[in-house]
Amino acid sequence: MRDKTETLLAMLKGQPVIPVLKIERIADAVPLARALARGGLPAIEITLRTADALDAVRLVAAEVPEAVVGAGTILSAKDFQEATDAGAKFIVSPGMTQELLDAAASSPVPFLPGAITPSEIMGAREEGYSLLKFFPAEQAGGAAFLKSLASPFAGMRFCPTGGISAKNAADYLSLPNVVCVGGSWVAPDDALQAGDWDRIEALAREASGLRR
Ligand code: 3PG
Repeated sequence: MRDKTETLLAMLKGQPVIPVLKIERIADAVPLARALARGGLPAIEITLRTADALDAVRLVAAEVPEAVVGAGTILSAKDFQEATDAGAKFIVSPGMTQELLDAAASSPVPFLPGAITPSEIMGAREEGYSLLKFFPAEQAGGAAFLKSLASPFAGMRFCPTGGISAKNAADYLSLPNVVCVGGSWVAPDDALQAGDWDRIEALAREASGLRR
């Protein structure tokens, strides 16, 4: 477990923001991943929230070597398997179930499960996880909530997502227990629809300049 967490951290290479992507048009997958990588955000999370999401993971894994493509919104062992088969380098879930823990245990691919409450965090800790997604971050109590978890859970680190943007990302990144934040703001729907890769690259560049 510790090894897989280290593998994931090594893949992220200190990247402060992980783009959380919802790809509606398969043709957008490659230019989007390339624009984000040019802007300094090579590690991306493609969420399984659209019909073409797995194909998007497959395409980016095959055609954008500079990207590190992960799959998100993984809700079942089947999702986990399909995403890793498609080439996902890491797997993200909004929560943590026994089924997902079992799938993760039998896979070499790092898993980032979600937890919010003290009991959920303790459950994840007992399973050997020390890096967790914290979702939905703003709605659950924001940076103040996350900050208050740092003292009791000294060994636990988080990647908060949900309601984070250029405006509040720095509040999270300044916390000792935050490794990176995730968010969709670097790939807004209107920019995606317009194929405005320059704008997405610029948003990525701004986000990649944020520091912990
Ligand atoms: C996620 O799954 O991490 C969130 O849906 C991202 O939230 P955001 O769209 O508010 O950034």
